[in-house]
Amino acid sequence: MARDIKIKPLASERIDEFLAYLNDHISDNGKENTPLFLPISSDDLSLPTAVADSFRKGQSLSLNELGWRRAFIAVNEKDEIIGHIDLKSLNQNYTGHRALMGMGVDRDYRKEGLGSLLIEWMLDWSKNETSIERIDLWVLSQNNPAICLYHKLGFKKVGEVEDMFRIDGDSHNYSMMTAKIT
Ligand SMILES: CC(C)(COP(=O)(O)OP(=O)(O)OC[C@H]1O[C@@H](n2cnc3c(N)ncnc32)[C@H](O)[C@@H]1OP(=O)(O)O)[C@@H](O)C(=O)NCCC(=O)NCCS
Repeated sequence: MARDIKIKPLASERIDEFLAYLNDHISDNGKENTPLFLPISSDDLSLPTAVADSFRKGQSLSLNELGWRRAFIAVNEKDEIIGHIDLKSLNQNYTGHRALMGMGVDRDYRKEGLGSLLIEWMLDWSKNETSIERIDLWVLSQNNPAICLYHKLGFKKVGEVEDMFRIDGDSHNYSMMTAKIT
């Protein structure tokens, strides 16, 4: 990437700033050139309280406890948050070898390779710092930019739920993709 960008773990003192960034990020959902990327209505474009709580609580749990969550942020030269990737537990016993991923890149920094960098960074972290062996994610099936990115970085589609959501009068399929940590 041409710009001076760093990726690092989210420090606990920046969590409010991170949640404000996420709230702004969500306001793009389904707007103009951005496909619907979260299964929420255009009438309800703010960060759900349960999501904010799971970041706050999950950061302090160890990776062998159900409910853990870790966020990593990309920052620009002014140390402003411009992208993120996060992993969390599947919240079921006997799934400790897997993690569920979420991510996003600020609207002003898309299509410059940052999404790819965030995934590569997360895969390295998982391989070197954890015993996670598989990364799972769910993506709305019409979110073509995200699906292309995930295919490019080695994720494979493992299933699709037809008509999973009905949002603002439209039916949406939901796809699951998985990458193996190698
Ligand atoms: C999906 C998203 C994270 C991609 O981030 P990005 O920084 O733009 O991605 P990159 O620049 O690294 O692109 C890597 C690849 O992704 C694909 N891609 C990215 N944007 C694309 C677009 N608008 N259309 C088609 N493919 C696209 C391409 O395959 C691209 O490879 P290429 O540059 O060789 O063509 C970003 O568009 C975003 O934040 N979208 C909104 C949130 C979202 O969808 N999150 C995922 C929820 S599951």
